[in-house]
Amino acid sequence: MASTSSSRLAVFFLITVLLSVAAPGETKLPLKQIPGDYGLPFIGAINDRRSFFYNPGQEEFFKSKIQKYESTVIRTNMPPGPFIASNPKVIALLDGKSFPVLFDVSKVEKRDVLTGTYVPSTDLTGGYRVLAYLDPSESKHAKLKQVVYFLLKWSRDKVFPVFEACYTGLFETLEKQVAENGKSSFNPPSEQAAFNFLTQAFFGSNPADTKLGVEGPSLINKWLLFQLHPVLSLGLPEDLDDLLLHTYPFPAFPIQKDYKTLYDFFNESSGFAQDEAEKMGLSREEACHNLLFATCFNAFGGIKVFFPIMVKWIGRAGGKLHTELAHEIRSAIKSNGGNLSMAAMEQMPLMKSVVYEALRIEPAVPYQYGKAKRDLLIESHDAVYEVKEGEMLFGFQPFATRDPKIFERAEEFVPDRFKGEAGEKLLKYLLWSNGPETENTTVGNKQCAGKDFVVLLSRLFVAQLFQRYDTFEIELGKAQSGTAPAVIITSLKRASF
Ligand code: HEM
Ligand SMILES: *[C@@H]1O[C@H](CO)[C@@H](O)[C@H](O)[C@H]1NC(C)=O
Ligand SMILES: *[C@@H]1O[C@H](CO)[C@@H](O)[C@H](O)[C@H]1NC(C)=O
Ligand SMILES: *[C@@H]1O[C@H](CO)[C@@H](O)[C@H](O)[C@H]1NC(C)=O
Repeated sequence: MASTSSSRLAVFFLITVLLSVAAPGETKLPLKQIPGDYGLPFIGAINDRRSFFYNPGQEEFFKSKIQKYESTVIRTNMPPGPFIASNPKVIALLDGKSFPVLFDVSKVEKRDVLTGTYVPSTDLTGGYRVLAYLDPSESKHAKLKQVVYFLLKWSRDKVFPVFEACYTGLFETLEKQVAENGKSSFNPPSEQAAFNFLTQAFFGSNPADTKLGVEGPSLINKWLLFQLHPVLSLGLPEDLDDLLLHTYPFPAFPIQKDYKTLYDFFNESSGFAQDEAEKMGLSREEACHNLLFATCFNAFGGIKVFFPIMVKWIGRAGGKLHTELAHEIRSAIKSNGGNLSMAAMEQMPLMKSVVYEALRIEPAVPYQYGKAKRDLLIESHDAVYEVKEGEMLFGFQPFATRDPKIFERAEEFVPDRFKGEAGEKLLKYLLWSNGPETENTTVGNKQCAGKDFVVLLSRLFVAQLFQRYDTFEIELGKAQSGTAPAVIITSLKRASF
């Protein structure tokens, strides 16, 4: 008996070993050391920072390292480094296969990594570590995310009419400026529309009717700069840009008055959501700072970058795509009783694909971080790498969603890429929300709370755009690292059919 069972056991082990060495149809990847080099203390970090921002710039910075080390998993420093971040060393994940380890909260800790290797002072957020900086293992993460879900649910019936009103306002502004000056900068009125939309949809409060007036976006932009300057470039002369933005954290005091102005607006508008937070055992004050952050940093900050990206790629794609979109969108609206509704948008497969493709080709939040919770093995297409507990992982998302081993013509904007059954199969590789598009945001993960909301707004925007216009033309202003593309509208052709 004993010998039979032990020989069975031996056979079982043998099979297991064989399977793990070579699963059918797969070749086992070699185990490799992670290549790359942090350089000398201090100097290495500054060299990498200057290469990243100025010469050759971030895309080439990563591309040249991939070539040099023949690997898409690489050790490098990430900005800002000295004197803002005490440890700039990361393991960069530069392909679509290794990148998703950052979504696995059993493997990576997402505590205080929203902005990377430094943490902005909590003086900029009312003294609180807000939701986006919390790891799901921290008890407040679930509660605070629940408050954001509550807000999104509460806004549901208002989204369509409020969006239509705010973005009709945007289009009227653009038309007026193009008529008067022959062109119009898209970004400022787009930010105004986004803020007006978000505050009315989430809180039923129109900033124009309050002390805030039209100042919301400019106050927020200043506040965002205080948090994000270490990882931005403003296109100033290089030495000045680097010295000013990347060497020391801005002190918080110059922004306190502006923050208070924003806070008062949110505090006056969000009583009902604070009630909800209080029921969950959160203080009203902590809830309000979090509502401000979710609206102004997460939602406004995301839309402020992504809408210009969408207009840029759709604009560049040209008249033929515009005509196709106009036909599809207008006929779907017509067959739905003349309303731009959820049902009508379901009949706009090209429009839906275009939105996904814009999210793929230029993800609005390109950097993701996480710290290894334990020793890990990470797989790229070519090799398996060992990572030690506590090491910082950094994913450059554009290289994951433009991975040529995953997407054909990965560098091209292919409007119908996500159309049909074959297109749908690619959605699991679309990662803009800090998770695959095929998965759901939950209180247990770090996927964007606004994932479905953002897709809805983006669809509404494109649908409204081509309901109103046959075609439009754009120019691009000077791009700045880590900020939205500067889109200038040079012509708008009103709907002729
Ligand atoms: C185009 C717009 C947006 C983009 C590109 C975007 C992207 C992201 C990304 C990449 C993250 C994960 C960051 C990280 O942990 O590394 C995130 C988190 C988050 N987003 Fe969004 N987002 C957008 C709009 C919104 C909207 C409209 C809301 C709604 C209030 C929202 C709420 C949040 C929240 C609360 C988190 C933190 C989630 C958590 O800690 O579990 N976002 N977003
Ligand atoms: C927030 O609003 C409440 C109710 O209107 C008020 O009692 C409280 O003082 C406000 N908080 C701050 C910090 O202004
Ligand atoms: C279209 O919208 C109007 C106004 O909101 C509504 O009364 C009407 O029932 C809608 N029609 C359809 C077909 O959904
Ligand atoms: C995501 O949520 C939807 C709606 O609740 C559900 O139908 C779907 O199965 C969920 N998807 C996953 C991958 O959990």
